[in-house]
Amino acid sequence: MAETVAQPQGMHAASATALAVRQLRKSYGTRDSITNALDGVSFDVESGEFVGIMGPSGSGKTTLLNCVSTIDKATSGQIVVGGQNIMGMRRAALAKFRREQLGFIFQDFNLLETLTAFENIALSLTIKHVSPAKISQRVEQVAASLGVTQVLQKYPHQMSGGQKQRVAAARAIVGDPKLILADEPTGALDSRSATVLLETLEMMNERMGATIMMVTHDSFAASFASRVLFIKDGKLFNEIRRGNATRSEFFQRIVEVVSFLSGEAMEAVETVEAVGVENRSATA
Ligand SMILES: Nc1ncnc2c1ncn2[C@@H]1O[C@H](COP(=O)(O)OP(=O)(O)O)[C@@H](O)[C@H]1O
Ligand SMILES: [Mg+2]
Repeated sequence: MAETVAQPQGMHAASATALAVRQLRKSYGTRDSITNALDGVSFDVESGEFVGIMGPSGSGKTTLLNCVSTIDKATSGQIVVGGQNIMGMRRAALAKFRREQLGFIFQDFNLLETLTAFENIALSLTIKHVSPAKISQRVEQVAASLGVTQVLQKYPHQMSGGQKQRVAAARAIVGDPKLILADEPTGALDSRSATVLLETLEMMNERMGATIMMVTHDSFAASFASRVLFIKDGKLFNEIRRGNATRSEFFQRIVEVVSFLSGEAMEAVETVEAVGVENRSATA
């Protein structure tokens, strides 16, 4: 890792590594009943990439995202974001790191009901003591890019679902984070709203230079990414790149890997026990 040098802010920092994960392990429980939720995961996310993380239910996706987002602490391994190793950081440093280097897209948007859209988007900058003039300029810039200029003075209950999504997206990107993290962002949405959100993420990636890591079990959602990593039983299993393929071609390839993965999972179950196969495959 040579990325300790300050990287250019914003637009596609040429081939810098936004995230490096090395031999990441996370175990839950005590000696008697131990779960290796992550079992030696290594990968990089380059600046400007939109990476999807897929895997069956229970494969370790949320654990991985929570470790990278510093919500959870990995058992061992390295997580380097923008050249900073976060594994050794103390609590106060982590809070600052999370605020300044990461952006989050939550499943339920998590907008504060008592704040306007402007205030919601501006919050992380306000905490950082950015000057009011700079805050206005930046908030207006991202709001314009995401098409929510008209709702900046509205409260969440006065906005449509789609507007709330885009305000939440604006909030995630406003501080120019090294990495935007999303765990099953379309999980609670109907298919139309899901598509709008995914198109927003794609736009943030392609036109606003956002680096995004999105966890999903949904092939359609994953097809908006430029690369998809598959994890299974806490291990990296495969990865595919979209390259020049269309989104629907990429979707087909993702579906193939997913069905291969769940087919394998089913075979494993069948050899151990004939019962419960339907349940296992249904969750995959
Ligand atoms: N807090 C926890 N305590 C114990 N086991 C956990 C905890 N969180 C997750 N696990 C286990 O770790 C594994 C991976 O879980 P998770 O990362 O949530 O999977 P995914 O998001 O892919 O569905 C599962 O076997 C799950 O039961
Ligand atoms: Mg999960």
